Amino acid sequence: MIPYGTTEGLTARISEYVADVVRSHGHEAESVDIGGAGVPRPDAYDAVIVGASIHMGKHEEYVLDFVRDNRDALERLPSAFFSVSMAAHDNPDEAEGYVEEFVRQTGWRPARVGLFGGALLYTHYGFIKRHMLKKIARDKGNPDTDTSRDYVYTEWDGVKHFVEEFLETLVPEAARDPRG
Ligand SMILES: Cc1cc2nc3c(=O)[nH]c(=O)nc-3n(C[C@H](O)[C@H](O)[C@H](O)COP(=O)(O)O)c2cc1C
Repeated sequence: MIPYGTTEGLTARISEYVADVVRSHGHEAESVDIGGAGVPRPDAYDAVIVGASIHMGKHEEYVLDFVRDNRDALERLPSAFFSVSMAAHDNPDEAEGYVEEFVRQTGWRPARVGLFGGALLYTHYGFIKRHMLKKIARDKGNPDTDTSRDYVYTEWDGVKHFVEEFLETLVPEAARDPRG
């Protein structure tokens, strides 16, 4: 199960990609929008990778609720967490701080954590958000302030690597596909 929270949609794309990587290794995978209706409980799955993105220093509140509600299952099952933010691209200490806050607020300390670079989707934002994000980027010394285009900082190979490392902890070596 890959339950995720997203605000502008990038974490949904990353979760789909995570599911594709899991499937390419011969397993079933389901990416689930926690913000949607009828979210299944993780108890019925063999493993869980939770994803969320950062806005104004915080992960989506409904992801925190989901994790608090399902903490027992997340601690019992093999599980991992990934956090999507601009900071993961340009300020790793800040990105780690967001995850520490998440751990403090939920009580769940995931054994494996991925920090994935987010996006500046200027062309999708409304007027205010566009100018706010441009100012934030400029203040942080990020040169990507051309609001007529989008910038995606996600390193997809890093996402793949994170998922494959997680899978290696689940599958006994003898059962692994020798072609990788
Ligand atoms: C209004 C807004 C606020 C943001 N605040 C932060 C922030 O405080 N720290 C950060 O590292 N990234 C911040 N970001 C960048 C997002 O984490 C990034 O755009 C990410 O790709 C969003 O993922 P999503 O599309 O799944 O919601 C912000 C983005 C927006 C639009």
